[in-house]
Amino acid sequence: MTPIKECLENNNTTKKPIWLMRQAGRYLPEFREIRKENTDFIKLCLNEKISEVITLQPIERFNFDAAIIFSDILMIPYGMGQEVKFKKNFGPELGEIDLKYIINLGEDEFASKLSPIYKLLRNLKNNEKLNGKDLIGFVGAPWTLLVYMVNKVSPKNGLSNNFFNDQSLVDHIMLLLDKFIKIHIKNQVNAGASIIQIFDSWAGLINTDLEKYIYKPTKSLVEYTKKLGVPVICFPRGISDYSKFCSIVEPSMVNIDFNVDIKNIVKHIKIPIQGGLDPKILLSNRENLKKQVLKYLDTFKDHQYVFNLGHGILPETKIEMVEELVKIVRSFRA
Ligand code: CP3
Repeated sequence: MTPIKECLENNNTTKKPIWLMRQAGRYLPEFREIRKENTDFIKLCLNEKISEVITLQPIERFNFDAAIIFSDILMIPYGMGQEVKFKKNFGPELGEIDLKYIINLGEDEFASKLSPIYKLLRNLKNNEKLNGKDLIGFVGAPWTLLVYMVNKVSPKNGLSNNFFNDQSLVDHIMLLLDKFIKIHIKNQVNAGASIIQIFDSWAGLINTDLEKYIYKPTKSLVEYTKKLGVPVICFPRGISDYSKFCSIVEPSMVNIDFNVDIKNIVKHIKIPIQGGLDPKILLSNRENLKKQVLKYLDTFKDHQYVFNLGHGILPETKIEMVEELVKIVRSFRA
């Protein structure tokens, strides 16, 4: 059995699997090398040959327990016909929404636009470098995708004032997202994803109507994925009450962010937990890294726990610090 599935099924595992969010990315010189020649990020995500090489880069370097496919949560808005551009030193920028187009968009047309992602998964499933490892597919949660689609740019400085002005547009998109995210989950599972992670990176941006924008739509995806026979990890980054989220949404595992009080959470959340370490710790020194990593490993030693970060690994991270991190996690004995 693969390491994360074993952790999900066995209460007595002492070994903690490890992988890192954004493990296939800019902190790797070999990724930056490829990226230099491939300036169009969407095109890169739709090139299954190069995406396979990138997915395997962190596996070859660090022998992580799981591979996450090289792709992006914004491939769904792209598949729904919205223009998506990634600007250097700025982040994503999306075009206008053509609601009529999306309403009339059929499953086959959407899936055929994203078909290189499914090919990527099929190839990886048969790649012997991933023998015994989990292969993680992923989607953005409806709320986070709504945020990008309507806000058009990363809401680092908050949502635009007129975000909810057209309530009927917002409601319509939420419904359409439920449909197309499910198609993307199903196709990834059919192509070989052994786990699905749902990224709700902007869950912390909303404090009212959580039922409508977070709990209900995420639960719908969780139930759907479980019915396909695949475990589902939720990452509602920045949500104020993880415990309430878990009791309502019931994911197979929850990824916590670095602001979570772990001594408290370990007592209140019974389901398997992943992640938590502040990615900035990897920018400090070895002594501090060891101290902070051991805090997580000690706290979760009797819990079903997968080591990961509390958000994506930062581009400034040094390779040696990642090597050290893997060493610390692999040599830990409770
Ligand atoms: O290694 C992996 O985790 C797999 C690939 C992956 C990427 N994006 C590749 C990527 C995954 C799982 C994502 C998820 C993603 N994408 C999220 C959710 C997780 C999170 O970080 O909150 C979000 C919000 C996005 C949207 C997105 N994509 C943004 C905001 C940006 C630009 C800013 C940034 O942090 O880089 C991207 C670009 C992106 N996606 C890169 C990579 C490797 C960098 C591309 C580059 O410029 O080289």
